[in-house]
Amino acid sequence: MNEITLTINGRQITASVEPRMLLADFLRERIGAKSVHLGCEHGVCGACTILLNGQTARACIALAVECDGAQITTLEGLRDDPVMDALCRGFHTEHGLQCGYCTPGMLITAHDHLRRKADITPEGIRHAFSSNICRCTGYAGIVRAVCKAADTLASESTISAQETPHGN
Ligand code: FES
Ligand code: FES
Repeated sequence: MNEITLTINGRQITASVEPRMLLADFLRERIGAKSVHLGCEHGVCGACTILLNGQTARACIALAVECDGAQITTLEGLRDDPVMDALCRGFHTEHGLQCGYCTPGMLITAHDHLRRKADITPEGIRHAFSSNICRCTGYAGIVRAVCKAADTLASESTISAQETPHGN
């Protein structure tokens, strides 16, 4: 057994793990982060996407021991995040999911895309989702959902910028 210390969703956690334990299993079974879905378990489908030190990563092809000292964010850690809130509303109104199995990974990937890109286009979103597989939706609703979230965030930031001079 190896002792590891990680920061998961802002909380520091120390645990003993077997060297062969996958990060995805550690997050699901030991931390209770059930948003980390397992699909292919080969790093292909993106269902297990998380943020590892701020970068998207596949939890199914990382060992927990390799992540000693890392900062990890799962969907559970983005509950109060305004970008994630806009994305969830977009997925809801634009029918961005059916069975929902791919959705946590899609949301993490979309969140990363919105944070990194100033210019959000359907083509750019499709490119970002080349790392995530959905077997239900045909992707059209997902792309619309992310566009909608980008529009929502842009209009909300415009409104708050307009309010600021008169605000306090
Ligand atoms: S379960 Fe990790 S990429 Fe498919
Ligand atoms: S909504 Fe079912 S796999 Fe994407």
